[in-house]
Amino acid sequence: MNATAETKTLTLTLDGEEVPFREGETIYEVAQRAGREVPTLCYDKRLEAFGACRLCVVQLEGARNPVASCTTPATAGMVVHTSTEAIEKHRRTLLELVASENPDATIDPLRGFASQELNDLLCQHDVQPGRFAGEHSGTTNSDDNPFILRDYDHCISCYRCVRVCAEQEGDHAITMMNRGFDKQITAEFNNRLKESACTFCGQCVQTCPTGALGDRKAMRAESLPGKLEKTRSVCPYCGVGCQVDLLSKEDKLVGIQPAMDGPANEGALCIKGQFAFDFVQHDDRLTKPLVRGDDGELHEVDWNTALDRAAEGFRKVLEEHGRHAVYGVASGRAPNEAAYTMQKFIRAGFGTNQIDNCSRA
Ligand code: SF4
Ligand code: SF4
Ligand code: FES
Repeated sequence: MNATAETKTLTLTLDGEEVPFREGETIYEVAQRAGREVPTLCYDKRLEAFGACRLCVVQLEGARNPVASCTTPATAGMVVHTSTEAIEKHRRTLLELVASENPDATIDPLRGFASQELNDLLCQHDVQPGRFAGEHSGTTNSDDNPFILRDYDHCISCYRCVRVCAEQEGDHAITMMNRGFDKQITAEFNNRLKESACTFCGQCVQTCPTGALGDRKAMRAESLPGKLEKTRSVCPYCGVGCQVDLLSKEDKLVGIQPAMDGPANEGALCIKGQFAFDFVQHDDRLTKPLVRGDDGELHEVDWNTALDRAAEGFRKVLEEHGRHAVYGVASGRAPNEAAYTMQKFIRAGFGTNQIDNCSRA
């Protein structure tokens, strides 16, 4: 194509409306952009579409059966219906089959970011959980790690956990074993997560649409009174700037969830950002400056006294050992302005370039 040639706009017909799309988009992506509500369960936009749950089915004119919109590429001239009586019936039946395995889908939202998805869909589609009866699969795995509950009674085999672990975390710590009703998510060699390659990033927990995987630390607050609130913030641990939602009940921080729309992390966190928040309200947390007295013990003092003591120490080192005896390491948790002030303090204050930062994440 020469540079001046116009690119032909590709279009398809969606519920009677002609809509444009880009080469490579799926029907689901086009429908989403056009504001259609197509339900999904195995879909997570960060992952390769998988086509396991079939809930996103749509009717294609000319096709004998409904197709999964999340795995079907859009093609020019296609005529798509996202919601017909037959499609809605098909979706309800699929949900009733899922619900027959998971009759109590009511899950505390503290379990994870996506944990309400199945229950929300059952309510929206007015599903009767008792319509199909039969065997149940999945068991609770008595994994004794402190972070992740593995309650596979609620598992619907959507593979989101397995895929996020492989595709986002690059860890391949979990997979699926057995078939049919014996199918189960498992860590390597059916071991505990602690003995696998799992880094406890928590991504599998946060993408699970049923709460089969739960955030054990946040779940400690299930019985606490008060409304669950979410406050958007930035993880303070390193310089990446992952966005998080702080979960609180009354004045207590009870958990952390990754922000799926955080530009730096898109729903990912590491073990520290995800689970290491107890320090915030820990009894041992230092809230006042302490200096060591002549008795060898630490004593609470005001900030001026503490800063004078620190300056005295720096001065002594400088006088006794020279300017290159001073080395500054700025905290990765400090904002830019503080990092700038720190390097100025070391360079201009002591005359040495021995300044570094701990942000190596
Ligand atoms: S544990 Fe959750 S995310 Fe994993 S397959 Fe089961 S329902 Fe899906
Ligand atoms: S916590 Fe992270 S590394 Fe461990 S199984 Fe889940 S996604 Fe994989
Ligand atoms: S969301 Fe498309 S098949 Fe599950």
